[in-house]
Amino acid sequence: MTAPLKHSSAITVDVALGDRAYDIVIGRGVLQSLGQRVAALRPGVRTAIVTDRTVAKHWLEPTERSLAEASIPTSRVIVEEGEISKTYAGLEKVSEALIAAKIERNDLVIALGGGVVGDLAGFAAAILRRGVDFVQVPTSLLAQVDSSVGGKTGINSPQGKNLLGAFHQPVLVIADTSVLDTLSPRQFRAGYAEVAKYGVLGDQAFFTWLEANHADIFSGGAAREHAIATSCRAKAAIVSRDERENGERALLNLGHTFGHALEAATGFSDRLFHGEGVAIGMVLAAEFSARLGMISAADAARVEHHLASVGLPTHLQDIAGFAQEGLADADALMALMAQDKKVKRGRLTFILLQAIGRAVVANDVEPALVRDFLQQKLTG
Ligand code: GLY
Repeated sequence: MTAPLKHSSAITVDVALGDRAYDIVIGRGVLQSLGQRVAALRPGVRTAIVTDRTVAKHWLEPTERSLAEASIPTSRVIVEEGEISKTYAGLEKVSEALIAAKIERNDLVIALGGGVVGDLAGFAAAILRRGVDFVQVPTSLLAQVDSSVGGKTGINSPQGKNLLGAFHQPVLVIADTSVLDTLSPRQFRAGYAEVAKYGVLGDQAFFTWLEANHADIFSGGAAREHAIATSCRAKAAIVSRDERENGERALLNLGHTFGHALEAATGFSDRLFHGEGVAIGMVLAAEFSARLGMISAADAARVEHHLASVGLPTHLQDIAGFAQEGLADADALMALMAQDKKVKRGRLTFILLQAIGRAVVANDVEPALVRDFLQQKLTG
């Protein structure tokens, strides 16, 4: 696989879900076409844009301009940045604002932001008047390659991440790759973990291509669109075969069982971004797979080496304040994993590797083996 030499015009990826199928439109500058595309999709529609303060500073004006140029009435709901908005209180604020803005059954909610805004606005749309359509305009790399696609929406419970939510597919995703230019390097890197995930879980050739082309992805070259489109195609294919995560879709959780526990142990704070937790979780999943004899130690090291080479944390010890209570404790991490959505009848589910590019769902992993492995990683 080789990188395209020039920025291509917009790439469209189809999420094939029958009468709920939708397009993901990827490219530099595609935000300008939002109004035109919404008008074609829903003539006469009214919209409400849900966004956060930081994204609003950069991207609310061009978003509103695009809609205004297509004569689409808009209102705006601005929430605080971060997980603090993915709460009952955040949901109440957005829902009440949408009702006050008179968003009706045939209107559209537009989620302009990263994963938090997409999940929150999507969930509000799912329950508003028993379901209003929504458009995702993801502004982080993580949201462009993962959370904006596939219809998982929701908020956190004080007892765990994403424990309340609904499957509610967007009607359109507009992934403008130029909006990623305003992300901090750390945020971009965290999103990159989810890009690498698609290679590790199902596409060895893509992983090899990423090893060779990651610098161009980070610098905003044409490889960026190629990587995002490849990731979206991989996700769209899985979602169209298993929308409700009855089987194959669980592969997308590679690195997430460990990762969510680490995020919980660090209080869902800036100490560890979601993608950073996924990076460490993916390395742990690869090393645990090697420990079980499913892959070679060299393959596990290859996963670790690639993620480390782009500057992602790959070891538990890389987390800020690692020595603090709760983190350097295998039993505490096991307890956090037991609260994850991926637990079924008390059994831990892990996504493990049979090769780079071939992940499998392991439903019945012996907790003692995981605990011993974690204990060794914590002391090693
Ligand atoms: N982020 C995993 C999924 O959408 O299934």
